[in-house]
Parts: sequence; C-alpha cells; structure tokens
Amino acid sequence: MTNADFERIVDTSDEWITTRTGIKERRIARDHIQTSDMALEACRAAMEMASCRPDEIDALIVGTVTPDYPLPSTACVVQEKMPLPNAVAFDVVAACAGFINGLAIARSMIEIGSARKVLVAGAEKLSSITNYEDRGTCVLFGDGAGAVVLEASVGDRGVISTFLRSDGSMRKWLWIEAGGTNRPITKDFPFDHTDKILMNGSDIYKVAVREMTRACLKVLDDCGLTADDVALVVPHQANIRIIEAVAKRLHIELDRFYLNIDRYGNTSAASVPLALDEANRAGKIKPGDNILMVAFGGGLIWGSALVTW
Ligand code: UT7
Repeated sequence: MTNADFERIVDTSDEWITTRTGIKERRIARDHIQTSDMALEACRAAMEMASCRPDEIDALIVGTVTPDYPLPSTACVVQEKMPLPNAVAFDVVAACAGFINGLAIARSMIEIGSARKVLVAGAEKLSSITNYEDRGTCVLFGDGAGAVVLEASVGDRGVISTFLRSDGSMRKWLWIEAGGTNRPITKDFPFDHTDKILMNGSDIYKVAVREMTRACLKVLDDCGLTADDVALVVPHQANIRIIEAVAKRLHIELDRFYLNIDRYGNTSAASVPLALDEANRAGKIKPGDNILMVAFGGGLIWGSALVTW
C-alpha cells in the first residue's frame, strides 16, 4: 500500500506521512496468508543461508503480537509446517522488541548449553489489528517477517551483549483494549475498533528516543566499546525522525544506520530482522563488524543487542 492509497481512505497526504514518518509504502499480506506463513518463509531462507538442516534446530522462537491463533503459539504452527522434529517452539510477546527479546533468550539458551542451534524470527500481520479508519495509526504499519539462525561457537564473534527493559505503567499508550480476558469479544461486542491498535504516538515518541539511546549506550558500555566501534546500527523502523534523533544523541552518522522504513513501514517484531537480512544480503555487513540492534514498542518494552558478525 502506497501513501497515495491512504490518501483515498483517510484524511491524510503523502507529504504528511513522508515528512512525519519517512514511510512511502508498506507490504500488506493477502487475507489467506497467516503470520506463520511469513515466518516459515523467513525461517527457510535463514536456514538456507546458514546451511542448516531442520533436524539440527533445537529451538524456534517467534516474536509476534499477531499470532495465527490465541492458542497454540505461532512458533508451534511453523514447527509443524517446517517440520522441526528436535526443537522446542514458542512465541515471545514483546511487540516491536519481540525479535531482540527472542535473540536474548536464544543467546542464553546457547550459553547455558541447552541448545546449539536456535531459529529466532520476528513475524507480524499488523494489517489484521490495524484500524483503517484511524489516520493516526493506519498509515504506519505493515506486514512481514525475518529470521536468523544462531549457532554455538567459540571465539569472539556472536551475540556479545543484550539489554532488555520494560515499563508496564505506560501499557495503555500502545495497546489493543478488547479481545483478551479483560474485555472479551462476546456476541454483544460493539466492534468500535477497540479490538485494533490504539496508540498515543507523541508520548511514545519521546520515551522511544530516550530509551533507545540509553539501550544502545548500555550494550556498548557493557562490552567496553564506543559508538566509533559500531559498523552498522539496525534500528526498529517505526519513524525516521526517531532514528535520526537517536543517531544524533549517539553521535553516529545516519549513513551507519540501515534504513528501509520507506518501503515497509513499521512491521513491529519483523522490523529488525527484515532490516538485518536486507543489509546482510546487500553486502553491508562484513565478518568482524560490530552490529548494534535496538528496538522499542508496546508494553512499553525496549531492548538492544551488540553482535560481532
Ligand atoms: O513501534 C514502536 C512504537 N511506536 C512508535 O515508536 C511511534 C512513535 N510515534 C510516532 O512515530 C509519531 O508520534 C507519529 C508518526 C505517530 C505521529 O507524529 P507526530 O508528529 O507525533 O504527530 P501528532 O500525533 O502530534 O499529530 C500532529 C497532527 C495532529 O493534528 P492536530 O491535532 O495538530 O490538528 C494529528 O491529528 O497530525 C495529525 N495527524 C495526521 N495528519 C495527516 C495524525 N496522523 C495524520 C495523518 N495524516 N496520517
């Protein structure tokens, strides 16, 4: 969907969307495509790149807030479709920070020796929870999936440091009010869009800039590194202005940030792995490079990871 498509359905303009968000297009999955279908494709592509067989995978972690079903996890659906006969599969519900949380869990599983190879995916069909009558949110979101394979290794390369944090007191700044036990969808449900995303964008914006910056500095500090040591930053793609503000505070030029928000919009948990994969396939990442990933989303929840490629 292009900005011109939105000009036809809500009171907005290409000029507003472009200057306020940096978004030009987003990908919208067809009705019959489920989150698991996108996750499956991303997992297959990651395993092919890693020359890894399905039976070698010990765990599959899927970050998503748009599962195929309330029960079971989308990860279990992907496990069956692949199939992954020797894996445990589960979802992580951490909104836009779902992939970074999955990465941190996978790292811990490998470091304590309970897994050798872990698939971590971020997959979302945000179009299924978007209110296309709310111009303040509908222009932002898109669908997609990305995945990585993490593997146990010795030496200096790998996931060097991770940082995770949340603050539930701001949970109503970005939430879906109805559809859970608190407000179930019964036969009297009014379908007043409370089963779709509601967001207080301008307040989130300020916290996002502050906490994404802090999260980046924290993982760098933990590794004894500075911003100068970072080859590429792969940020959550929610708003180009948030990324620019974080870049300025970190004193890292914007050309060391991988940006694809113009083509995908905000894809929540899929955003970081989508950008990472694009950067990698475009040859923008070399062995030994320090890659800094950072994300922020509904919870509120945020996190960062420093990876030496
Ligand atoms: O995924 C992780 C979590 N989410 C985020 O990180 C999102 C963080 N927030 C943002 O990216 C920005 O706050 C938005 C892009 C959501 C909004 O940008 P903003 O500069 O904060 O705009 P605003 O919400 O303060 O709204 C400014 C004006 C309002 O009009 P008035 O009240 O000034 O007359 C809005 O009604 O822009 C209006 N507006 C729009 N106008 C045209 C809001 N959405 C639109 C729209 N088209 N699509």
